[in-house]
Amino acid sequence: MFLWAHYTDMVIALLAVPIAMAAGWVVMRPPAPAGTNGSRMWRLLSGLLLGGATLRVVAALLLLPNGWDFAGPRLVFVAPALAVVATVHAVWVRPMPGSPGGEWRAARWLGDYWAATVAVGAVLVASAAQLAGTGAAAVTGVGVLGAAAVGSVWRRTRWSRRSAGRWWRTAAKGALGAAVAATVLAAMSTASRLPASNSMTGGPANIGGGSMVGHRHHGGVSVTTLTGTDTDGVPARRFTLTAQPARIRLDSGQQVEAWTFNGVTPGPQLLVRQGDLVEVTLVNRLPGVGVTLHWHGVDVPNAMDGVAGVTQDAVPPGGRFVYRFRATQVGTYWYHSHEMSSVQVRRGLFGALVVLPANAPEQSGDVDETVLRHTWVDEDGVATLGVTTGVRRRQAPAGQQVRLRLVNTDGNPATFTLTGAPVRVVAIDGTDVHEPNLLKGVRILVGGGARYDLAFTMPDRPVVLRADGPAIVYSSDGHAGPGHAGPAPALLDPARYGTPAATPFGAAGHVDRRFTLRVDERLGFYDGRPAVRYTFNNRSFPDVPMLMVSPGDLVEVTYVNRSGQHHPMHLHGHHMLVLSRDGRPTSGSPWWVDTLDVGPGETYRVAFLADNPGIWMDHCHNLEHAANGMILHLSYSGITTPFQTGRGTANHPE
Ligand code: C2O
Ligand code: CU
Repeated sequence: MFLWAHYTDMVIALLAVPIAMAAGWVVMRPPAPAGTNGSRMWRLLSGLLLGGATLRVVAALLLLPNGWDFAGPRLVFVAPALAVVATVHAVWVRPMPGSPGGEWRAARWLGDYWAATVAVGAVLVASAAQLAGTGAAAVTGVGVLGAAAVGSVWRRTRWSRRSAGRWWRTAAKGALGAAVAATVLAAMSTASRLPASNSMTGGPANIGGGSMVGHRHHGGVSVTTLTGTDTDGVPARRFTLTAQPARIRLDSGQQVEAWTFNGVTPGPQLLVRQGDLVEVTLVNRLPGVGVTLHWHGVDVPNAMDGVAGVTQDAVPPGGRFVYRFRATQVGTYWYHSHEMSSVQVRRGLFGALVVLPANAPEQSGDVDETVLRHTWVDEDGVATLGVTTGVRRRQAPAGQQVRLRLVNTDGNPATFTLTGAPVRVVAIDGTDVHEPNLLKGVRILVGGGARYDLAFTMPDRPVVLRADGPAIVYSSDGHAGPGHAGPAPALLDPARYGTPAATPFGAAGHVDRRFTLRVDERLGFYDGRPAVRYTFNNRSFPDVPMLMVSPGDLVEVTYVNRSGQHHPMHLHGHHMLVLSRDGRPTSGSPWWVDTLDVGPGETYRVAFLADNPGIWMDHCHNLEHAANGMILHLSYSGITTPFQTGRGTANHPE
């Protein structure tokens, strides 16, 4: 219902623009006598605007169940537009009984002319508000008034009457219209250009209702000093990851020109134990581009977070950078470059990081497999599990324990389905689920960047994991095919799965700061190019205010997704406890996430403890969205960064 109402509304708002402009054009002509083409045309256009405004009000009302955040901002604009259009239509356009030529009155007198332009203007403003935001709506309103004033003078001049109907007049008006439109678009494009360099420190700030001292960070603590307290000594695990181009062969035979770590895709799996001091040396052998490593989902010290332009400079070709952190959280994580991440992750610069419990045996007979789903966009969007595009066959004797660690490296959610064995969803985003119930089979919508771990005992028949295209079949002889898909198992609802357990904070307790992030879908420009933008509270990076916190704060964030797309919201350096979805409290196991897929029309309330000082990205992990400005930062008061992002620097974290 949300998607239907949302996109109907968007399409009507879009169609209304040319119709309203045509109506405005017609109104500006000198008064047309009854029955002429001019008056008929005005009548038709007015009728279309009336119908469109009515449908938009209906769509807004249908969104009322989603909350005022969804219906309100629409109603504020479309309800007045409908009132004005309906009045103009009823009084000036619709033939009145006893006034058979009613429509000829349209635009005859000055008052009529202004009424008609106000109706047209109200429709344009309502469209602009939905398509491009309230700022654009205000600019549109001013523009319409100006154009109407010019038109009012023009249509009273003798010259305008004399030239009526001449071909050159139409041509001149067309050229003028095109010139105005081109100027407006060029101005919008220029205005959207980002500064050549930009620092996270000192931008707009939002203190979320808490108190704050010195958020301007004068003489503050640099992120480079935040290397952790427990990271001295000899590392238990050392790895070297070399970013380099490689030609990857998918099992379909297709070749992909990839950017890889150590020449393979996914990059090498880093397997460590809880408590290990981990040291990873990043070496850059990519031609002409920088690179970094971000430990997605691992709450590392800020200086190790790997965000170009925020916590470090991108490592230039030929350069290296050493990351050190202690692996404190057991679970499934992944790493990826956070320089030009929308391009670099897509091209292959990612891999898995698995933290086993400290006491896990070095060797075991169990299957423990990480399954990274990745779409190679350059190969016509071919979806893979590792390099598998079709079916991978694996051997697993009956009775064996199998753990599958599902990772979605894409931005869009992917559906994973497991059939053939009773299964438990044992962990989400690295955190164990409390008392996971046994399911007959499971279907999971894994959001971009998210991880789900499955565990089952191998039965004496094949078990099939499907991932929206590619599949893996486990069987005792390793030869079984996937067979027929059969009826899909029920979709997992992580808000209702498992059983409750104690959490360090909950939905009812005291909160130090509250933030609400309302996401909208806007057509416009970003950094000079045309873009569909997803904005936070009507703003894009770097204009979204930083969320300011102090150490020890309990912070609540509400994500309201008013757009028609999924947004996997990823907060660096912290784990968020999901409190409610669409106003309904979660009722299963405590649901901890680092990447929360917020679907179209959904509202999530989450909370986290501010216990990891630094400047942290909070962004959409649909990295295309991030590259179009869907980024903000969480900052602890008094922290500064010496790094900068932007065209004039080497750092492009998005
Ligand atoms: Cu996995 Cu900011 O990213
Ligand atoms: Cu998004």
